[in-house]
Amino acid sequence: MNTNVQLPVIDEASINRLAAQAQPAIPVAGAAKDRLISRIRQLLREKDAVLVAHYYTDQDLQILADATGGCVSDSLEMARFGHSHPASTIMVAGVRFMGETAKILNPEKRVLMPTLEAECSLDLSCRSDIFSRFCDAHPDRTVVVYANTSAEVKARADWVVTSSIAGRVVEHLHQLGEKILWAPDRYLGGYIRKVTGADMLLWPGYCIVHDAFKAEGLAALRKSHPEAAVLVHPESPMEVINQADVVGSTTQLIRAAAALPHPLFIVATDHGIFHKMREVAPTKRFIEAPMGGTGATCLSCAHCPWMAMNGLANLAHALETGEGEILVDPEVGRQAMVSVKRMLDFAEKLKVQATDAANIVSPA
Ligand code: 13P
Ligand code: SF4
Repeated sequence: MNTNVQLPVIDEASINRLAAQAQPAIPVAGAAKDRLISRIRQLLREKDAVLVAHYYTDQDLQILADATGGCVSDSLEMARFGHSHPASTIMVAGVRFMGETAKILNPEKRVLMPTLEAECSLDLSCRSDIFSRFCDAHPDRTVVVYANTSAEVKARADWVVTSSIAGRVVEHLHQLGEKILWAPDRYLGGYIRKVTGADMLLWPGYCIVHDAFKAEGLAALRKSHPEAAVLVHPESPMEVINQADVVGSTTQLIRAAAALPHPLFIVATDHGIFHKMREVAPTKRFIEAPMGGTGATCLSCAHCPWMAMNGLANLAHALETGEGEILVDPEVGRQAMVSVKRMLDFAEKLKVQATDAANIVSPA
């Protein structure tokens, strides 16, 4: 399938350089932290703002989002929550594509982020001009892009999907007899292609965090912990996915941690997720799946360097000053809204919840 296709080349060196340059948020503790938290609570009220945080952000942000009537979730639920909440300002703690998705869906609202420099390697791997030319070269294919992309790439797509719903959408298109151009995550795309049997042409991007999980190390760890279940995010390499008991989006993995009887879980995704896993399954233990390098050679060490840029101090600053506002060109936003809304309407029609067990796949 697709053996003669010329695929774009990913500038891995630039992406790795940007990841290495990402500055983690300034840590705060003790009385200073308490003061910042009260200040943020007050600012959220004053500015009519709601905090929406991804599971990979610092646990202080997750606790604050939950405690102030906001939401902590995966990308699908983040988009839905921000869209349905009445607040006039959405504060998105996550990476830029998440803020852009919120703005696309809510052009009339103000969308703020603690930092505008929080990238995503998948987004960086898919420049809109190159992507657009690639689409032009394959006019017979329905264009499905992962939410981890820029507003311009979303605007060029027929569908936007998140990992919670990607399999269901591709299955639907495959049943209609459509051939698919998928971007940018080659691992998620490869996994969906395997599960659905759809004809999918895959953009060669990948997530620098999940790419580092290694199959050999995982097999050895599994052997030494026969009581453990393995939970894998589908942005991981196929050899890692193949060893999973459950493959799913972040919400689906959290749900599996609560539902499965195992006392121990080996988790192949960003370790920021452990906060929610421990909350829903307090008697269970969670350990990181082995990565390529450890210590000094480890690029991400199971934690997204861009998610780590979100902190209490820059969140308070953004609320206080209005800096960190996400702006999307209105015409690009209008076009991107069509493909994002298509996903939300599809989810609504199928009654797919981000927590829907039906979307969890056990490859074993
Ligand atoms: P989820 O939608 O599963 O939360 O994934 C988003 C992401 O960026 C994972 O790396
Ligand atoms: Fe992007 Fe990977 Fe970070 Fe998720 S973990 S935001 S896919 S770089």
